[in-house]
Amino acid sequence: MASPGTVTARPAVAFLGLGALGAPMAANLARAGFPLTVHNRSQGPEAALVAAGAVAASSAPEAVAAAELICLCLSDDDAVGAVLERVAPRLAAGSLVVDFSTIAPASSAARPWLPSWPAGRWPTSMPP
Ligand SMILES: NC(=O)c1ccc[n+]([C@@H]2O[C@H](COP(=O)([O-])OP(=O)(O)OC[C@H]3O[C@@H](n4cnc5c(N)ncnc54)[C@H](OP(=O)(O)O)[C@@H]3O)[C@@H](O)[C@H]2O)c1
Repeated sequence: MASPGTVTARPAVAFLGLGALGAPMAANLARAGFPLTVHNRSQGPEAALVAAGAVAASSAPEAVAAAELICLCLSDDDAVGAVLERVAPRLAAGSLVVDFSTIAPASSAARPWLPSWPAGRWPTSMPP
């Protein structure tokens, strides 16, 4: 793990949500040589990624525990909120969460309400 606030050239990546968009994105990261841990709510999509060199985690919190970069590619606002709620207590210091899901800007801006989110590390929204 790099010191807080820095990202190494090939950061350890956790990818959560291996649907139609997430699975090929994760596969590209594996192909590019990133240390990759993957997790999907329902089992199945991990197998191809493990064959490509990724590690399958048994839960979302387990997936993020040692990651410097956490990628989310989930269905909607509710899914992102549910997953963030679960993983927040396990986020490593200095880790970065990037959400590729299509959600409402207002939902993204509202994430600081998450009770378990580490103090002072609120995610920020991309401009709509
Ligand atoms: N596909 C595209 O071309 C495209 C283009 C632009 C934007 N997007 C956006 O990208 C996001 C993902 O799209 P997609 O096409 O990959 O969707 P998708 O194939 O339906 O995959 C959705 C993913 O979200 C997971 N998920 C849903 N609810 C969850 C929950 N409550 N907890 C944990 N995981 C949950 C699903 O897990 P399960 O497998 O267990 O259901 C699945 O991994 C969406 O916001 C979509 O609007 C997609």
